[in-house]
Amino acid sequence: MKIDIVTIFPDIARGPLEASMMARATESGKVEFGFHDLRDFTTDKHRQVDDEPYGGGPGMVMKAEPFFAAVEALREESTRVIFLTPQGRPFVQEKARELSQETHLIFLCGHYEGIDHRIVEELVDEEISIGDYVLTNGTLAAAVVADAVVRLLPGVLGDERSAEEESFSGDGKRIEAPHYTRPAEFRGRKVPAVLLSGNHAAIEKWREEAALERTREMRPDLLE
Ligand code: ADE
Repeated sequence: MKIDIVTIFPDIARGPLEASMMARATESGKVEFGFHDLRDFTTDKHRQVDDEPYGGGPGMVMKAEPFFAAVEALREESTRVIFLTPQGRPFVQEKARELSQETHLIFLCGHYEGIDHRIVEELVDEEISIGDYVLTNGTLAAAVVADAVVRLLPGVLGDERSAEEESFSGDGKRIEAPHYTRPAEFRGRKVPAVLLSGNHAAIEKWREEAALERTREMRPDLLE
């Protein structure tokens, strides 16, 4: 899979996507990231990427031309273009799975008050939000979506089961049961005895109940 990120702050995306599992996925050829400075697609002396809004109002609006030039230069035969914006559809695990089936993604990252809407109308296949809060810039959101997508590519996670068994996968969406590792007692707190019992059926049952309890407490909306 190839993922091109178009932003005025490529370093914001490089940080998270050039470390840890994303670095390994890149080194093993499972993903290829392209970090593109939007200003490289301007043609004027000042490399201007924004301008005042038509109709007035506060803030600046990102110009159409550099985004069009970027997408036209980067687009391939089968490319999905995604715009990161708090006005987009909420990003969920199901969307990460869907995007992990693609061969080429382009992420367009906004800044300032917004982007010229002709970009959305003409270039963008999908608008995605990573949550109901406003970041200074869409680049962090692009890194979040890219990470969630790339970890689902075959062979990126060491243990394929970990992607299948985790929260938000499968039909009944649940928060995962709590996890523990050694020592069995730490500062007076004991690991639930059933986890040390070796009784796999009892462990499975405990995990199901604990998951349900955690879900009721943290995410009752998942049970509705
Ligand atoms: N840009 C600014 N805030 C955002 C958000 N919550 N999701 C996606 N892109 C954004």
